[in-house]
Amino acid sequence: MTRTVMGAAALRDMGGERMGTAEAAVRRTGVDTWWRDAVVYQLYIRSFADGNGDGIGDIAGIRARLGHLRDLGVDAVWINPWYPSPMADGGYDVADYRAVEPVFGTEEEAAALVEEAHALGLRVILDIVPNHSSDRHVWFQEALAAGPGSPERARYHFRPGRGPGGDEPPNDWRSVFGGTAWTRVTDGGEPGEWYLHLFDAAQPDLNWADPRVREEFESILRFWFDRGVDGFRIDVAHGLVKSDGLPDLGGDDENMLAPVERTDHPHWDRDGVHEIYRGWRRVADSYPGGRVFVAEAWVDSPERLARYLRPDELHTAFNFDFLRTPWDAPALRKSIDHSLATVAEVGAPPTWVLSNHDVVRHVSRLGRPATNGAGHSLSHLAPATTLDLELGRRRARAAALLMLALPGGAYVYQGDELGLWEVEDLPEEVLQDPTWERSGHTDRGRDGCRVPLPWSGSAPPFGFSPAGAQAAPWLPQPAGFASVTVEAQVSDPGSMLSLYRAALALRHAHPALGEGEFTWMPSGPDVLTFSRGAGFVCVVNLSDVPAPLPAAASVLLASDPDLTDGELAPDAAAWLSV
Ligand code: BGC
Repeated sequence: MTRTVMGAAALRDMGGERMGTAEAAVRRTGVDTWWRDAVVYQLYIRSFADGNGDGIGDIAGIRARLGHLRDLGVDAVWINPWYPSPMADGGYDVADYRAVEPVFGTEEEAAALVEEAHALGLRVILDIVPNHSSDRHVWFQEALAAGPGSPERARYHFRPGRGPGGDEPPNDWRSVFGGTAWTRVTDGGEPGEWYLHLFDAAQPDLNWADPRVREEFESILRFWFDRGVDGFRIDVAHGLVKSDGLPDLGGDDENMLAPVERTDHPHWDRDGVHEIYRGWRRVADSYPGGRVFVAEAWVDSPERLARYLRPDELHTAFNFDFLRTPWDAPALRKSIDHSLATVAEVGAPPTWVLSNHDVVRHVSRLGRPATNGAGHSLSHLAPATTLDLELGRRRARAAALLMLALPGGAYVYQGDELGLWEVEDLPEEVLQDPTWERSGHTDRGRDGCRVPLPWSGSAPPFGFSPAGAQAAPWLPQPAGFASVTVEAQVSDPGSMLSLYRAALALRHAHPALGEGEFTWMPSGPDVLTFSRGAGFVCVVNLSDVPAPLPAAASVLLASDPDLTDGELAPDAAAWLSV
């Protein structure tokens, strides 16, 4: 076996540059399906880059760092909510869906960002939050003022309480962040009705049975499509429709990130949501240039997810089944097969994701022994004393090559490309996730995966904020970030950043990657080996002994810089040309 590390340029010189399946489809059909195999970079705006020195990431910071994304080689960015918000839940409490939060910048800056991203060949996906608004949204303020029985209240879920004096919540639903899903208001100076909030009390659920809510959101989509955005990630896409009469749940665990395990749930994944998305699809299809929706839907199974991806509904969805699968070859094989088969039935592309702003970073999940992969919060994972960060990093490198070799689209959460880990020891007084308070200080929440990125230098703010910034980053960065800044990694060929850059360049250049053929090849039970056609093979060794590589293969890229000829070490992956 020969060992060659072939770069994208070399492949191009060989005449191997791929015309993506998506690109070929545009030529054939005139419809731009760029999203079918795009790699999308998730930009958590508060933590990406701070342009004005207030310690909070912003649009100016993104514009100044677009070169990082170009050099990384992603196709699109998804930007977490940037709308005006009291920030009770990191911007997922939207006060005005047609404007930009002043802390993040101005509408003019947003327009400039879209234009500059497009000029670099990057598509821009925004985050739409239709399940709930902020309690500061004008609609909710009007609902409070108008009182019981009013049309203003009908845009939300207001109900009288149960029990003597209406002192008990109207039903037994729980907030995803802990505690009851109901908060009581005062009406005419007296204790009054209750309103529903599946998340924080500052996030009242909208009533999607009211036609005004439907019209408003289609108009919001048009507002941003008119400004050139390429699509939307739909927050809590499975939550919009509630069962008539809001019946009791009967004691189910309300953890949103756990499988729902029932198909008649009174507020998750109800059949009625699909009609809403058919309407949204008609809006997207009325625009040129391949506008796209991606669903955030935590549902029971890949089958249930595929229902969101029928040809007249949403384009793609996050594959949380893959994210939740433990580092175990048979389990991953099963998840991959299941995912591929279910989306194929509805003609949608598969997608793959390892981390996002709601789950413990995968370096820290994979670095725990026998991790179940499923825990979104530290309270669901093995204790920190069991964490082996080196192992986590090693597996994260292999997982990246696995994910990027699979057919379809992929999501990279900011900092994945630097190998960032979960910051598990943030001081309690800096925690901002509402989960911390609502869980009665039993769940530290999601701040540990949202710590501002390290760009350069050897001490905080590690280039996140400009020199001389007046404020420290909104969450403190650990000293250990010094070794993983972009600056420290960029010229190190063995770094996580170099691995991601090489993988993404190869993915663009190699005719077999992106959408297309996928075939498992024979291998030991704890090894994943598959071919993608055109002589491309990916091998991932999840066993604890070295795995033999196929004969007559040359290595295109390997997660393990010490790859020895013919054998792949445990927890390593390689892309091969055979
Ligand atoms: C977002 C979370 C947010 C929640 C409520 C989610 O799924 O990703 O960050 O807290 O929706 O909007």
